[in-house]
Amino acid sequence: MTGPALHIGDVAIDNPFILAPLAGLTNWPFRRLAKEAGAGLTVSEMASATALSFKGKATLKMLDTDKSVETPYCVQLFGKEPERMAIAAQIAVERGADLIDLNMGCPARKVIGSGHGSALLKEPETVRAIVRAMVKAVKVPITVKTRPAFAPNVGATVFDLLPMLVDEGVAAITLHPRMTCEGFSGEADWSVVARLAEKSPIPIIGSGDVTTADEALHRLRNYGVAAVMIGRGAKGRPWLFRQCLAAWRGEEVTPATLDERLETAIRHARLLAEAVGGKAPYMLRTVLMWYTKSLHGASEFRARICREENLETQISLLTECVERHKAAEAAGGNTAVHSI
Ligand SMILES: Cc1cc2nc3c(=O)[nH]c(=O)nc-3n(C[C@H](O)[C@H](O)[C@H](O)COP(=O)(O)O)c2cc1C
Repeated sequence: MTGPALHIGDVAIDNPFILAPLAGLTNWPFRRLAKEAGAGLTVSEMASATALSFKGKATLKMLDTDKSVETPYCVQLFGKEPERMAIAAQIAVERGADLIDLNMGCPARKVIGSGHGSALLKEPETVRAIVRAMVKAVKVPITVKTRPAFAPNVGATVFDLLPMLVDEGVAAITLHPRMTCEGFSGEADWSVVARLAEKSPIPIIGSGDVTTADEALHRLRNYGVAAVMIGRGAKGRPWLFRQCLAAWRGEEVTPATLDERLETAIRHARLLAEAVGGKAPYMLRTVLMWYTKSLHGASEFRARICREENLETQISLLTECVERHKAAEAAGGNTAVHSI
């Protein structure tokens, strides 16, 4: 394959595998690992446009990146006030964003309770005003990430909004095909993604339940999407992007070895320590658990890591856990790890 796999507006994207925004998780270290593994595009955690427009320190920090690695880079904003969204978009561009995404899909009670995220599906005219203000404020493409609807017969559907979004200059739409009222339950209904892709003159990106390279390729080839977004499936498995790329190029898809798993987890730990300093050991309690999933003795590791406040000790415990698994494997024990 030569040349970019897709364009969003005038932004060329090398391959159609995108790391989804995951609030609290897809910080710069996580995105860096996904990018290094080959993700075509990475998206920041959702950042409050209001906080960003007032240059809130914590929100500015959420936009941290290194453009020599993370290009193109998409910043996702949530908000409902067009002027704030416009200012925030400008600040995000100053901070390196190549694309800005509007969050119109978050179902969290706190977020929709204040009229943000997927609550916007109930306010089409507000959406129009927001998108118009953002498109006018910056030169980079504006995209929207949403769900099919808030609930049956509540507000607008993504199909109702599509012509308006296209008219206002939105460059692509990501659809997570579960209604807001469904949260994350049941299966993502990709037939809705396919229907939207069929109707849409702009690229549609599908997001939901993709956890293997085979599935990613299947969605890409059979659902009319320009790209596939992967979220939870990449937690503790950034090499999934390497596997997706291999499958897409028709090359052999190789599982992550235990050594790759350990090296990547340690790198994640060190990058997180660089990024957030003393908070890293607390965040790593969750992050390192991802990497030890299905390892022999992982539950003991989990119990210990949850009490640990020292990064180096956490890394030693992790290394021990992997070594113990290797020993068990050599003795003919658990080999489930090779399936990831
Ligand atoms: C913990 C968590 C945090 C999320 N945060 C965001 C977010 O900040 N912005 C957003 O648009 N979607 C967010 N999502 C939705 C994901 O981007 C994605 O659309 C959804 O999880 C389905 O894809 P997956 O099955 O690959 O995870 C989040 C999902 C989870 C589970």
